This record gives sequence, C-alpha cells and structure tokens, in this order.
Amino acid sequence: MAGWQHFGGQMVRPKIFLRSRRRRAGAHNGGMSEVHIERVKPHIGGIVHVDKDHLLDDATIVAVRASLEDRGVLVFPRMNLTDAEQLAFTDRLGKRVNYNRKAPGSGAGDEADVYAITLDKKINYQPEYVLGTFFWHIDGVTIDQPLPKATLLTARKLSPAGGQTEFASTYAAYDNLPESEKSALDEVKVVHKMEAAMRPVFEEMAEHDLARWRGMSKVMVHPLVWRHNSGRKSLVIGTHADSVVGLPIPHGRSLLVRLQEWAAQPAFSYRHQWQEGDLVIWDNCGCMHRVVPYDENSGRRMHRTTIMGEERVA
Ligand code: OGA
Ligand code: MN
Repeated sequence: MAGWQHFGGQMVRPKIFLRSRRRRAGAHNGGMSEVHIERVKPHIGGIVHVDKDHLLDDATIVAVRASLEDRGVLVFPRMNLTDAEQLAFTDRLGKRVNYNRKAPGSGAGDEADVYAITLDKKINYQPEYVLGTFFWHIDGVTIDQPLPKATLLTARKLSPAGGQTEFASTYAAYDNLPESEKSALDEVKVVHKMEAAMRPVFEEMAEHDLARWRGMSKVMVHPLVWRHNSGRKSLVIGTHADSVVGLPIPHGRSLLVRLQEWAAQPAFSYRHQWQEGDLVIWDNCGCMHRVVPYDENSGRRMHRTTIMGEERVA
C-alpha cells in the first residue's frame, strides 16, 4: 500500500468508514463484491479498496456515490484504467460531460471525451489553461451551466518532482467559520471571471489572450455561500473569484484570498501523492483543488473525465 501514507506529509491511521458487502444476483460480475472506504482525515479524504473487477458493481457505485460528498475526494490506488474503462466508470456514476472539446489536449487519449491535462507541448500547444491548475479553483465555474458534479483523473505519467494534487473542502471551510462570520457572508455575491483565473499565469495579459478567455467563458455572479439542495452550505471560491459585489476591489479580493487560505488549512485539505495508475475522483461542488507546480518537460499527463452537475450555485 505504498503511497497511501503521504497525506500532506502526515502519517494517517485510516479508519474503516464504510463497508458494503452484498450478494448480487445477475449484476456485472455475479457473486460477492466488497468495497471498503477508509477515512483519511475527519473533514476530507477517502481511500477506496476495491478490486478492479468489482469497480462497476452496483455495490461499488452505491458506495462511491454515497460517500463522495462526505469525503470530498476519493482515491482508488493503482486502478490503472484505460480510457474506455474510465469512461465506463464515469458513465456508471452519472452523466458524462465534456466542456473541453475545443481546448488543446481534448481527445488526446483513445476516446474523444477524455481530456489530457498536460504541459507536454506535443499534446498541448496552449499551456496557459493547464498552468491555471497551479492555483486553487473549482472546475467549470465560469461556464453558464450547473457546476460539474465530479471530476475523475487517472495518472498516466508522473513528474519526477511536484505534481501532487491538493483538495480543500469548501463545506468544512464554511461549517467551521465562526457564527458571526457565517451570517456576515451569507448574502455576499461574488463575480467570477476566467481572466481572473488566468491572471496569475501571465506577466502581462495581451488583448488577444483576454479575448480568448472571454470567448470561452462567461462572467458569472454566484453567491459566496452555496445553499445546496441537500441543505448543506459550501463556499464558492478560487482564483476565478475576482471581486465581491458592492465592495471596493482591494477589500473584496482580500476577503476572497483570506477565505481561500482558511479553506486550505491542513484540517480541511488533503494532498495526493500520486502513483502511476491512481484514479482520483472529487466532489467538484464541495472542494477546490490545485496542483503543486511541475516542470513542463516532465511529461506529466493525467486523463480527465467529468460528470455533469445537476445543481446551479444558488
Ligand atoms: C483538473 C485539475 C490538477 C492536476 O484536472 O481539473 O485541476 O493535478 N488537475 O493535474
Ligand atoms: Mn481543475
């Protein structure tokens, strides 16, 4: 089980969180299937123990769906899925969505709906979008559609240094704010722009770059505190969060940066030290994420699929 012990540098003693054992009649493989999900930290992280043969079993799908929101991020160590297998798993979990068809890297795998996250110039000739993943973000916030429910990444090729992916629970970040701050934030609205997410990537952004980001996104105004249909609340933050409605720019940005820092504290976040073949899935509606910088010549390549969301930020 090498690799599981790297949780943000801390040793973790996982507890059995969920155990599902069920006799299945006529399901995918027949016979008995078993899935265990171990907790990593109280607020975030789960490790799914399941054999690849049982990945598509009803019991596994039920367990993954049931624990994704609670755990925020689920790791399937060394699952070694092909693109077709990853898509099959994605399709079992929800409705697949591809909002990257026009981005470089799209269709770089065997399947058109698989997007390659890489800085490798042979695959990705416009690296800025992927360089944006070095900064905290939620996927798809500046697209006018329900936020993608979940993202799945398979590690195809690792970088020798960097490349760990970090996840922070935006549910835990909200839940653990002092009550006075919660009520102060409850009615706040935030302007999200793709160009804000791209700003840290450039020394200076040229007009044609600005035009490009504006062409592939929409300025979205979302409540800072998302009241989910479930009744839970989370923060909608990340570098795409550009300003706060009604506040002067420095005041709004300072608030947004402080909330990012709060959400990223170790108790609410998990850093994944990848091994080749790992599959990670995260609740994109309850987590923000970023990657530790890696060299553009490292060859690092992750294959991504996405599950469509059902809820708009409200
Ligand atoms: C993503 C993403 C981070 C990584 O796929 O949406 O942000 O570790 N990836 O490559
Ligand atoms: Mn992302």
